[in-house]
Amino acid sequence: MPGLDDVREDVERVRREFDSALSAANDGPGIESVRVEFLSRKGRIAQPFKVLGGLAPDDRGEAGRLLNELKDRAEGDVGKRIAASAAATRNARLEQERLDVTMPGPARPLGHLHPLTVVQREIEAIFLRMGFDVATGPEIETEYYNFEALNIPADHPARADWDTFYVSDTTLLRPHTSPVQIRVMESTPPPIRIICPGRCYRRDAQDATHSPVFHQIELLWVEEGLSLAHLKYVLELFTREFFGPGYEMRFSGDFFPFTEPSVQVHIKAPGAERWLEIMGAGMVDPAVLEGVGYDPERLSGFAFGLGLERMAMLKYGIDDIRAFLSNDLRFLRQF
Ligand code: DAH
Repeated sequence: MPGLDDVREDVERVRREFDSALSAANDGPGIESVRVEFLSRKGRIAQPFKVLGGLAPDDRGEAGRLLNELKDRAEGDVGKRIAASAAATRNARLEQERLDVTMPGPARPLGHLHPLTVVQREIEAIFLRMGFDVATGPEIETEYYNFEALNIPADHPARADWDTFYVSDTTLLRPHTSPVQIRVMESTPPPIRIICPGRCYRRDAQDATHSPVFHQIELLWVEEGLSLAHLKYVLELFTREFFGPGYEMRFSGDFFPFTEPSVQVHIKAPGAERWLEIMGAGMVDPAVLEGVGYDPERLSGFAFGLGLERMAMLKYGIDDIRAFLSNDLRFLRQF
């Protein structure tokens, strides 16, 4: 019959085995299997409790105390190891998922405005400062606004210059921004002082200086008492602002059905050999003013049509108009 000493011995032995098993366990599952082996309902610590009933009554109290102490200590130790292992797992995860909020974010390349847009806005800003408004018109335009109202009847040979992409029998992709002049004058009483930037289309074969799609900036000033001298003054002011000092400007005769007289404007960069045409211009033909219901006896005006690509090419030294449409980032990034 087992006695108190046997229980003591058992307790000591199980404690040692428990201690070494627990210290050998090095992860969550290891600790769990030690817990099952020693602390489950039929585990190795529960077994010695079975002998309690066979002990002398005087020894039962002490034996029970020893066994409970063993059980409590083992439960405490396993609990601590489980907590420590969970904490270690969590710390390892935190360490791995560590987020340095002071780290610079991934740099996203920022886009920027297209060089033509930059130049267009620059030109708009110059004329806005001079007191002009910005007007726009449709890119699909009627023959009436494109031609008739600009003093170009159906059989006029000047149509050949602007014959372009027809959308229907009477509408076409506009070859110039001049029709906006008519639309504005029709809907606004004088005086008129506007510029109209916009896309234009022509049946031109593409090469270094021609593109079937291009941009113009139209200008129109109608008021009492305007003369060619005012046009010249406005243009001189504009070229000085846009290009800087030292550019020379030259007027020469030309023909447009909607202006009389008509001129061509050339400019020359400082030190350059060649004069470059930048626009057609002139005094608005009285027939055009009359057509929109203005009184040509009282009012006069001037207008011009400026090539936007040409201005950007001159300003930045670009020698091929196709660069604007080719979407080549090596080109675009320079602006
Ligand atoms: N519309 C003409 C063209 O595209 C340019 C032009 C000439 C516009 C004289 C004007 C002007 O306003 O007065 O060739």
